[in-house]
Amino acid sequence: MTQSVGIARAHTNIALIKYWGKRDKELFLPMNSSLSLTLDAFYTDTKVVFDTAFTEDRFILNGLEQDEKEIRKISRFLDLFREYIGEDRFAVVESLNFVPTAAGLASSASAFAALALATATALNIDLSRQALSSFARRGSGSSTRSLFGGFVEWDMGTCSEDSLARPIDEADWDIGMLVIAVDKAKKKVASREGMDLTVATSPFYQAWVETAAQDLAAIKEAIAERDFEKLGRLTEHNGMKMHATTLSANPPFTYWSAASVRAQEAVRQVREESGLAAYMTMDAGPNVKVLCRASQMEELKRELSVLLPEFQLIESLPGQGASQLTEEEWQQSHSRFQKEVGYEG
Ligand code: PMV
Repeated sequence: MTQSVGIARAHTNIALIKYWGKRDKELFLPMNSSLSLTLDAFYTDTKVVFDTAFTEDRFILNGLEQDEKEIRKISRFLDLFREYIGEDRFAVVESLNFVPTAAGLASSASAFAALALATATALNIDLSRQALSSFARRGSGSSTRSLFGGFVEWDMGTCSEDSLARPIDEADWDIGMLVIAVDKAKKKVASREGMDLTVATSPFYQAWVETAAQDLAAIKEAIAERDFEKLGRLTEHNGMKMHATTLSANPPFTYWSAASVRAQEAVRQVREESGLAAYMTMDAGPNVKVLCRASQMEELKRELSVLLPEFQLIESLPGQGASQLTEEEWQQSHSRFQKEVGYEG
């Protein structure tokens, strides 16, 4: 066959129990298991075309041809699939990111999950979703969890094959997330560098690993019991602990900006004064994500926008797992991208 095509969509996820640190950098094996909520508001659509006529891999992101450095990341990822089945065709990868790139909204999570599914589809590789999640992991750790919807656990596993994601719960019980977008600029310290430095130098790191395992067990209980307060408190505590490890790295660093701290204070104030259930978490960027009740999201948004008038507040509900798209849906996605996001450059 000269040409084969695969198209897929994957949503981002936000970790409630964070993945922070690798025990194997080559295989992307994590130091601890993690758990996330997939979000419907942010996603990546990706089309992969393999063709005997192509003489190199290409990568077009949001309508822009990417440079060699970006192409190398994609090529290395495609190689995992090519080597798996003995494929030697090059590919053109085109992605539309309905996510502000690299602002701690985990665009790499949706990106590599969509690319994994599109590639497996194009090459007709028959893998279970769980097995596919272990391929996605090699692109970026957080993308392991984006193959599934709702609450998803990434089991650290014992080796490459069993370090994979599993769906825990559909999160169809009055759950929402409000993102306080304090800054959409590219992050200053990539998650990869940040976690590597932390593992190597933070004296608190061992405590992180030990308590992350306890937090994970407790949050799974909270989900099984549908205990929102417990879920929220564990989320906030775990996220803050992750960020405490960056402050104790050497040299120390932080993903927080002054605006992040203001946003955190606003969340605390609203929680105390209005009694709304709202718990925050942050990733490798300055934005603050607030876990809340879907039924209270409008009210929470109103309250927060009074305190934080200059920041965009983006609402999201739990999202679905990755799915294949038709050519027609891909065309629609292009039109929507042009209308909603606009091509850069
Ligand atoms: O896999 P990456 O490079 O997207 O790193 C993810 C790191 C955090 O977002 C901070 C935590 C997580 O589990 O998503």
